[in-house]
Amino acid sequence: MKVLVLGSGGREHALCWKIAQSKKGVQVFCAPGNGGTAQIATSIDLDILNPKQVIQFVKENKIDWTIVGPEAPLASGIVDAFEAENLKIFGPNRKASQLEASKVFSKKLLQKYKISTASAQFFTDPQLAKAYLKTKNIYPIVMKADGLAQGKGVHICQSKQEAFQALEDFMVIKKFGDAGSEIVIEDFLDGEEVSFLGFTDGHTFLPMPAAQDHKRAFDNDQGENTGGMGAYAPVPWFDLVWQEKIQSQITKPLLEAFKKEDIHYRGILYIGLLISKNIPYVLEFNVRFGDPEAQVLLLKLKTDFMDIVEWTHAGHLSDLKIDWDPSPTVGVVMASGGYPGRYEKGFEIFGLETIEAKKDVIVFQAGSMLKGDKLVTHGGRVLCVTAKAKTYEEAIQKAYQTVQKIKFQNMQYRSDIGYRLWQNKK
Ligand code: GLY
Repeated sequence: MKVLVLGSGGREHALCWKIAQSKKGVQVFCAPGNGGTAQIATSIDLDILNPKQVIQFVKENKIDWTIVGPEAPLASGIVDAFEAENLKIFGPNRKASQLEASKVFSKKLLQKYKISTASAQFFTDPQLAKAYLKTKNIYPIVMKADGLAQGKGVHICQSKQEAFQALEDFMVIKKFGDAGSEIVIEDFLDGEEVSFLGFTDGHTFLPMPAAQDHKRAFDNDQGENTGGMGAYAPVPWFDLVWQEKIQSQITKPLLEAFKKEDIHYRGILYIGLLISKNIPYVLEFNVRFGDPEAQVLLLKLKTDFMDIVEWTHAGHLSDLKIDWDPSPTVGVVMASGGYPGRYEKGFEIFGLETIEAKKDVIVFQAGSMLKGDKLVTHGGRVLCVTAKAKTYEEAIQKAYQTVQKIKFQNMQYRSDIGYRLWQNKK
C-alpha cells in the first residue's frame, strides 16, 4: 500500500512513523516533509495547498491513501477535490472543516444546538464592535478572528484598552488579513483546558485519551502563545465519568447537529475543552490532530493507524475497538530561540546520533531539514522529545534526559512540561 502524508511538522513525522509500522506493508511518502520524515518516507516537493498538483502526483504514483496533517489544505477543500476524482483521502471536507476555519460558523453551530460554550457576540463592523466594548466592564474578554490565522487569531484582552488595541489589529490594520474581517468577542472562562480528540465517521466518535498542551512559550505559562511547547496524555483526573459526560453533553449532540446541518465529517476531530467549576465548555474545534498532542497520542496508539483510516472511511467505526497504551506519555518541544516571533534558522542539530533507538523515547522532528549530510534547524518548533513510562515522574525524567543530549544554537524549551499534572484548577 502507498500512503502520502501531507505536512511538514512534528505531527506529520509522528504520522509517518506510525503509518510505516502498519501491518499492511506501507510505502510512505511525505509532502513536503522534514528532516525526520525523510528518514522513513520519501520526501516529495509539492504545494499542498494546490489540490491539482497533489492529485496529479497521487494519480501518477498510484497512491492508495492520502492523510492530511494540517488544517489549511482541509479548509481549502482538498478532500472535496479528491472525492470528485474518487481518490481516497483521510480528513473532513471543506464544509466540515469550517468548524476550525470559521470561529463564527462553529460558535453559531454550538449556540444553535445548545452545546455548552462561552457566550459570544459577532461583529463585521469595527464601529459596532467598539461600541460593544465600551459597554463591557468585566475583563478579561476573549477576541477571536473568524478565519485561520496560524494559531495567532485569539487574543485574551486583560483590559478595555487592550481590547481596543486588539480590535484595531484585527479589523482595521488587518494583521491577519481577511481572517479578521469578522470577529467573535466572548466571555473569558477560567479553568483547565483539555484537548479531547477522537476519530469520527460522522456516526460514531471514538475518543483518544485526553491530553493537555502547554501553549505559552516560557515556564510558568509566561510569554506569547505558541502552537504548543509540550503535551501529555492521559490527563489523570479526566476519568471515565468525565469522558462519558463529554460524550453525552458534547460529542453526541454534535454528531446530531452534523446530521441536521448536512455536515459529513470523517477524520479526526479535536475538541478544545475548558472545564470551569466542573462544567465543560467547548472553547474551539480543530479538524485535525493537534501538534504536539499527535506525537504523544500516536506513541500511545496500539491499533494499526491504517485500519482506523479504512474503517472511518467506510463509516464502520462503531465496529472498531481502538487500543491505547495507558502509560503516561509526555512530549517536550525544543524550539528555535525567538519562536513564536522572529528566529534564525540553519543551525546544525547535534546529539541525535547519541540517542539510542528505543520504543519508549522518540525524538520527532518538525522544523528540521537535511542540508547535505547535516541536520539543521528550519522552523520555529524544531523537535519534540516524546517519552512514555510507568509513571509521569519517570516519563518526564526520560524526556528531559534526552533533551539534555541535544544541542543547537539558540535552542529554547520549557523545563516545566507536565507541571499542571500536580496543580489543576478545574
Ligand atoms: N496544540 C494545539 C494545536 O495543535 O492546535
